[in-house]
Formats: sequence, C-alpha cells, structure tokens
Amino acid sequence: MEGKKTPYIFATANQKGGVGKTTTAITLGSSLSLFGYRVLLIDLDPQASLTNHLAVEPEKLEYSISNVMVSESFHPDEIIINKYRLKTGGCIDLIPSNINLARIEAELSVSEGGGLRLKERLKFLPDNYDYIIIDSSPALSVLLISAIAASDEIIIPVISDFLSARGVELLLTTIGKVETAINIKCNYRLLITMFDRRTNSSWKSLDYFQNKYQNCHFNSIINIDTRFRDASLIRKPLTYLDVNARGAIDYINAAKEIINGRKNQIKGAKDE
Ligand SMILES: Nc1ncnc2c1ncn2[C@@H]1O[C@H](COP(=O)(O)OP(=O)(O)O)[C@@H](O)[C@H]1O
Ligand SMILES: [Mg+2]
Repeated sequence: MEGKKTPYIFATANQKGGVGKTTTAITLGSSLSLFGYRVLLIDLDPQASLTNHLAVEPEKLEYSISNVMVSESFHPDEIIINKYRLKTGGCIDLIPSNINLARIEAELSVSEGGGLRLKERLKFLPDNYDYIIIDSSPALSVLLISAIAASDEIIIPVISDFLSARGVELLLTTIGKVETAINIKCNYRLLITMFDRRTNSSWKSLDYFQNKYQNCHFNSIINIDTRFRDASLIRKPLTYLDVNARGAIDYINAAKEIINGRKNQIKGAKDE
C-alpha cells in the first residue's frame, strides 16, 4: 500500500479490574494480525500485565512507555519490541510498561495538558500500523484520560452481570468529559466478556446491555474459556496457541466486526 497510513486507535477501558481488558487487547490484536493487519499493542498499565503476557519482563526493561511519555527527545520507535511476525503479513509489536509508569502518572496528573501527552507522542510512531490497541489501567485516572484522548474508539469489556452496569455509566461519563474538554469525538463499544451461557442471569443482563447500548456493542460475545489461563501461563495470545479454542473464535469474530466496520467507514468517507 502506498502513502502514509493512519492507524485506527483503540483503547480497552473499564475502571474495574479483572473484566478482560488485557485479554481483549492481546487476543483481539492477535486476531487482527491473523488477517494480515499490522498491530501495535501499547501497555498503559503500571501493573504491566500486557507486557508480562507477551513474555517480556517488565523489571528488566531499559526503556518503556514512560520514556515516551516524559521525554520529547525519545522516539517511540526506540522502544518498540517486535514480538510476532506472521506469514499473513500481520504482526504484533509492543510498547511495554513497568512500574515506572506509576511515577509518571503522578507527574502527568499535575502537569497542564498531561492527559494529552500520549496523543501527541503517538504522532511520532512509524506509520506502518493498521491498528493500535492501548491497554489501560483499572482506575479513573490520568492514564485512562490519556488513553481516551489518544483513541478513535474505546472498547469497554464488561462482564454480563447487573453489578457492572453502574461502572459502565461512570466510564461513559468520564469519556464524555474528556470529549468536551479537548473537543474530540470518541466512539465506544461494549464487549461482553466471560459470558456464562449456563446462567439465566447472564442472559438477562446481556439483554439489558444490548438494549441499553444499541448500536454501541459488539455482536460477538466472549464466552468463558479456561484456555485463556493456559495462554497466559505460556505467555502467548490464545489465538496463536489454539485458533480453534472457543475464546479464540469469539475474539476472531469480534475482529471481523472491526475489520468490516472499518471497510464501511472508509467506503463511506470516499462516497462523501
Ligand atoms: N473469556 C474469558 N474466560 C475465562 N477467563 C478469562 C476470560 N477473559 C479473561 N479471563 C481471565 O480473567 C483474568 C482477568 O482478565 P484480564 O484480561 O487480566 O482483566 P483486566 O485487564 O480487566 O484486569 C485473567 O486471568 C484472564 O486470563
Ligand atoms: Mg489488565
């Protein structure tokens, strides 16, 4: 493909921990790469689960996302780790994180325009990515604001239970505030994760979420699959470990929704 590519940037976000943010970033990213897309994953969580899951040791890193965030002279290119190169032409690259990000977080939250730093710095990325996925930390913090500000779209992984409903509303309020503050438009989509088909309450709350957030949810649902644990144990994306695992198929279906949605968007823009 000729010319400069504009990557489509996602962030996974939910202030609740353990809802599948990191799993979504990795498994959706690796699913997109299976279709030949070039994917960059950015770990924006000081706990560095994404980094760990991709078999990179956070504490041994010389450079991490923190360097990109604080130093203008630091080119993001210098810390990109080429993790996977596939025969499809797709790839997974990683900008890793470690606990240093917690210190940067404090600094950013008191500096003017701190929430825009990531967005600004991402302009200096190499232009060969199709998709960038930012994995955010479980808090309504300046790091989450940074992820929202830098993204075209927020993926909200949510467990299908009624207790999650209030959390989603809070997150959407935060997204709305960031949109107003910096005058951007950021779409969002809910992704139901860890869906338990056997319980009545899962189906009921699925119904609730799909009705309440019509047109703003993935049609694909991510079922509970113990194979995710196997994948994290060997520190590999599930889609690479076993492409036929239930959870891998679910994320591949979600990736197809993204790909088809992008094709329609690009076609729509050309027709205008
Ligand atoms: N669909 C799923 N089925 C079963 N376990 C899952 C699923 N998605 C994620 N997990 C597991 O749940 C735990 C929390 O997921 P994670 O992606 O780390 O959440 P978060 O990033 O929101 O804290 C991890 O151990 C992960 O392997
Ligand atoms: Mg996480």
